[in-house]
Amino acid sequence: MASLKKFFFIKARDFVHAGEASIHIQSLLKSMHWDPVLIRRVAICSYEGEMNVVIHGGDGVLNLSIENDRLIIEIIDDGPGIQDISLAMQPGYSTASDEAREMGFGAGMGLPNMKKNADDIQIESEPGIRTRASMTFLLESPKETP
Ligand SMILES: Nc1ncnc2c1ncn2[C@@H]1O[C@H](COP(=O)(O)OP(=O)(O)OP(=O)(O)O)[C@@H](O)[C@H]1O
Ligand SMILES: [Mg+2]
Repeated sequence: MASLKKFFFIKARDFVHAGEASIHIQSLLKSMHWDPVLIRRVAICSYEGEMNVVIHGGDGVLNLSIENDRLIIEIIDDGPGIQDISLAMQPGYSTASDEAREMGFGAGMGLPNMKKNADDIQIESEPGIRTRASMTFLLESPKETP
C-alpha cells in the first residue's frame, strides 16, 4: 500500500524554531486539498505535542505517516518523561516553568486538546528515558497517497 512518511527534529527549549514541524504538516495537507476541519484537528495535535517537547521534554522527533485510511503523528523525546500520565492528562495540570508561562504556555490544556482532537491517542513514558505520544486520525474517504 502506498504511504507517505516524513520526520522532523524537535529541539528542546528552542523557542525560535518551535512549531515549525506543525506548520510544515499543515502546509503539506493544504497542498493535498484535505478537509480543512481535519487539517485543523491534525494541526492542533501536532502543535501541542511539538510544544510539549520544546517546553517539557528533551530533544525529539515527530514522525508523520499517511496511509490509505489514516494519518499518524508520533512524537518521541528523550526528556525527563511523565511520572503519572493520567494526572498529566487532566485539564489544568501543568508543570510548566515560569519562563514558559511568561510566553503564554502552561494552561495544562495541551494533552486534553490532543485527546479531544485525535481519533485515538496513546501516551507512554519511561521516566528519565523517553516519552512517546502517538495520535491517529481516520480519513473519512480513504485516499490514494501520492
Ligand atoms: N514530552 C513531555 N515530557 C515531559 N513531560 C511532559 C511532556 N508532555 C507533557 N508533559 C507533562 O504533562 C503536563 C501537562 O501537559 P499539557 O500539554 O496538558 O499542559 P502544559 O504543556 O503544561 O500547558 P499548555 O499545553 O496548556 O501550554 C505538563 O505540564 C508536563 O508536566
Ligand atoms: Mg502543553
